Amino acid sequence: MLLPVASSCGTSSALAADAGHGADLAKRWCASCHVVASGQAQASADVPSFASVARRPDFSPERLALFLLDPHPKMPDFPLSRTEAGDIAAYIGSLRP
Ligand code: HEC
Repeated sequence: MLLPVASSCGTSSALAADAGHGADLAKRWCASCHVVASGQAQASADVPSFASVARRPDFSPERLALFLLDPHPKMPDFPLSRTEAGDIAAYIGSLRP
C-alpha cells in the first residue's frame, strides 16, 4: 500500500524530513495510544488517529513538529529530538488524502 508521498513535497520541504523513519518512531512511541497506521487495531478510544489529525484543514507538518517538541499533558515525556519530531510530522503529513 504505497501512498504518493511526493505530492505533498512542494517547493521547499522545509524540514527535509524522513517520513519512513517517522513511521517507525510513531509505531514505537505513539501506537499505544494512537492509531498510527491504517490496519492497526483500535488504540485508545478517545485519542485521535493520525489519519484524522492529518485530515484537519489546518494541518501543517511544521506546526505538528513544534507541537511534538512540547508533549501534550496526557502523553508521557518523549525524548524526541527536533529531527525525530520532524520525521513523525512528515509521516503524519503523508497520511493526508
Ligand atoms: C499515553 C498516551 C499517548 C501517547 C503515547 C501519545 N499520545 Fe498523542 N494524544 C494522546 C491523547 C489523550 C490525545 C488527545 C488530546 C488531549 O486531550 O490531550 C492526543 C493527541 C495527539 C495529537 C492531536 C492534538 C490535537 O490537536 O488534538 C497529536 C498530533 C498527537 N497526540 C501526537 C502524538 C505523537 C506523534 C505521539 C508519539 C510520539 C503521541 N501522540 C503519543 C495520548 C497519547
